[in-house]
Amino acid sequence: MASPVDSIDFRSDTVTKPCAAMRQAMAEAEVGDDVYGEDPTVNRLQEQVAELLGKEAALFTPSGSMADQIAIQVLTRPGDAIISAPDSHIAFHEAGATPMLAGVQFSYMPSAIYSEDDVASAYRENDHHFPPTTLVEVENTYNMGGGLVWPLETLRRVRAKASELGMKTLMDGARLWNAACASGHSEAELCQGFDMVTVCLSKGLGAPVGSLVAGDKDSIHRAHRARKMLGGGMRQAGILAAAGLYALEHGRSRLSEDHANAKFLGAGLSAISGLSLASDSVDTNIVIIDVDASVGTAAQLQAKAQESGLLFFPTEAQRIRLVTHLDVSRGDCERALDILSTCCA
Ligand SMILES: Cc1ncc(COP(=O)(O)O)c(C=O)c1O
Repeated sequence: MASPVDSIDFRSDTVTKPCAAMRQAMAEAEVGDDVYGEDPTVNRLQEQVAELLGKEAALFTPSGSMADQIAIQVLTRPGDAIISAPDSHIAFHEAGATPMLAGVQFSYMPSAIYSEDDVASAYRENDHHFPPTTLVEVENTYNMGGGLVWPLETLRRVRAKASELGMKTLMDGARLWNAACASGHSEAELCQGFDMVTVCLSKGLGAPVGSLVAGDKDSIHRAHRARKMLGGGMRQAGILAAAGLYALEHGRSRLSEDHANAKFLGAGLSAISGLSLASDSVDTNIVIIDVDASVGTAAQLQAKAQESGLLFFPTEAQRIRLVTHLDVSRGDCERALDILSTCCA
């Protein structure tokens, strides 16, 4: 069976390896103790990301999950309810951290991309029977929906409704860079008005580690304490921040290649008998495919493809996900289509 080392790896955009130039930047990074706020490279990264997002300040964290959990702790109190899509990352892929660490519960929306009316109907009146609904969370791009990009107008209306009802807003922008690239709107435009935003450097941008949470100065001051509580204070983290700065400089401009490869894959996969695209379109770098029972289960297809050197994950019993990134080429996508069409024959 092929190992991940010699396979074409579509499992996630997190599997990329730092290139020689990124490693060089890491080796040469100027560092200090970041827990004392003395690492110049971390400080530079935080300033640069805050500026890109149009926020007052940002804080470097080891992971996107920690950035999300910090933001939730800053924006809610135990006992509150958060409005979020049903299979959002904060609800389903952070190991239960949201209720466990922040002590809050979810109020689920009917769809991945929801409307201001959905927000209004999920909002509970200030009545002692109900949990206070205090936060609206939006994931952009939406991972489990196939990397969907929220339309700017919908985002603005949802955000405005949240403010009207006195709720705070959080954008999980792990792949905000992809949303900006695909929509033609800047990252700052997309998260304008959101109280806090989280972004990842270790996904499409190709850094080995690192995320940030951004917001106003007061929120980021409180985020420092939450990061400390979670054990996320790092010392000479400039080595990692240097990779992040490199990723920002070189990674954002090439995301359109990943999107074009994902569209190519999506079109090719839906032409294979037994496979069909689960979403209306491929917006960014994530392709979700429904597997017909005649082909077998998603897990069986995954196992067969792996024997031929193709890696991806099933996301449901009859559904698989393929993610394009900087370590897969158009040639790799062509090879993936060949392998899958043989597996489905
Ligand atoms: C939408 C979204 N948010 C947050 C995260 C968390 O990032 P990390 O794996 O760095 O904790 C991910 C990871 O895949 C994600 O897809």
